[in-house]
Amino acid sequence: MSELSFAPVDIALMREDDLDSIIEIERRSNPHPWTEAHFRNALRAGYLCLVAREHNVAVGFLIARALVDDAELLLIAVLPQTRRNGCATTLLNALIARLKELGKSPLHLEVRAGNREAIAFYEARQFRRTGLRKNYYPNGVLGNQREDALLMQRPLAA
Ligand SMILES: CC(C)(COP(=O)(O)OP(=O)(O)OC[C@H]1O[C@@H](n2cnc3c(N)ncnc32)[C@H](O)[C@@H]1OP(=O)(O)O)[C@@H](O)C(=O)NCCC(=O)NCCS
Repeated sequence: MSELSFAPVDIALMREDDLDSIIEIERRSNPHPWTEAHFRNALRAGYLCLVAREHNVAVGFLIARALVDDAELLLIAVLPQTRRNGCATTLLNALIARLKELGKSPLHLEVRAGNREAIAFYEARQFRRTGLRKNYYPNGVLGNQREDALLMQRPLAA
């Protein structure tokens, strides 16, 4: 998969020269953002790293990894001013198309139990809650108190 087009954004494989924009999106989206080293390691490890561009400017991205049978969505984020416009859905659809080609299912993820926007997004995209990890994240959004992780997954069978 080199380049896939879905209106209103173009989806492509992430490149190293996307990283400045990606890191900025991540910084504005995640209270505990990945560092440049995390992104470089993900690219080197061959993870599925997709970028969404609008008029050639990066506005969102996702990172996932294919496992033996299934796959894990590690990160997805969209610039705040571009949200609620289908960008994350387009990224997710591109990922799912690729995972189906690879025969991977289900797609699972962890999300902060307090991240209502993301949970609403996943539930609207057919992810179901499969478990809870108590006190999983070291730093909750409210300070030092730990935060639970909600486990979700979506089967990808054709
Ligand atoms: C979660 C996130 C990636 C969604 O990106 P997006 O481009 O806005 O998503 P889409 O436009 O494709 O889909 C939006 C849908 O998700 C749900 N949704 C998203 N934000 C929502 C909110 N604030 N309230 C209710 N539903 C919401 C709705 O179903 C919405 O559809 P609608 O606009 O037709 O009602 C984005 O909010 C984001 O970057 N958040 C910060 C990073 C993050 O939390 N990532 C997930 C970590 S696990």
